[in-house]
Amino acid sequence: MSPSQLLDRIRVHGAIPRHVAIIMDGNGRWARERMLPRPLGHRSGMKSVREVVEGSLEAGVEVLSLFAFSQENWQRPRVEVSALMSLLEEYIQRESDELQAQGVRVRVLGDVDRLQGAARAAVDRVCAQTAHNTRLTLNLFISYGSRAELVRAARLLAEDVAAGRLAPDAIDEAAFAAKLFTADCPDPDLLIRTSGEQRLSNFLLWQLAYTELFISPVLWPDFGRSNLFEAILDYQNRDRRFGRVAV
Ligand code: FPP
Repeated sequence: MSPSQLLDRIRVHGAIPRHVAIIMDGNGRWARERMLPRPLGHRSGMKSVREVVEGSLEAGVEVLSLFAFSQENWQRPRVEVSALMSLLEEYIQRESDELQAQGVRVRVLGDVDRLQGAARAAVDRVCAQTAHNTRLTLNLFISYGSRAELVRAARLLAEDVAAGRLAPDAIDEAAFAAKLFTADCPDPDLLIRTSGEQRLSNFLLWQLAYTELFISPVLWPDFGRSNLFEAILDYQNRDRRFGRVAV
């Protein structure tokens, strides 16, 4: 089925997920299969980023969250880390005008203070440039780890309590969620992980509590908008009960 036929199906089939999160995995294997260095797998993965952003706009998704670089990824070989940082900068350079024209608000979530030089400048620029857009929020998780995000939230609440701004018994789920990077986003409805791996890898542990999971065998550089639309169609067949019984 062509992408536009899949899109037609989605439109008549059911509710569109408001928030789609993706663990983009398999760039290294894609490169190895072609006897190419790993950074070329990441480079090829950039066009899949473009595909899912455009696909999300076409389908009417409100928030797209992409896990682009984990805190653990800083431990990869220096050449791979610097290739990923250069790609991030290049992606922003190449795409920011188009993202702006399409009404995409870009946010970079994670320990951004570890980003340096040109990559940091590019991130700050695109976030400021697109801050007022409303059609799609693109959350790029960079230097991100969910446990660190949870610890940070606990620390922020503790600071509020210590300063007398918050009573301990006022800490509830909503107060906790308000201290996460994703405070103003709905929780993801659908999580896609590519390359067949069945792990959360320290991504959005709090936010994924009731999210539907879709594991795709496709390696990230081969993932296109048709694959996104197929995942959405699959999601539309799920029976979401949030721990309750069906009525
Ligand atoms: C996982 O594949 C992928 C990454 C660590 C990086 C993802 C980065 C991109 C898609 C490119 C740039 C992104 C943006 C937003 C500009 P892996 O290396 O773990 O693959 P493997 O498991 O096959 O080794």
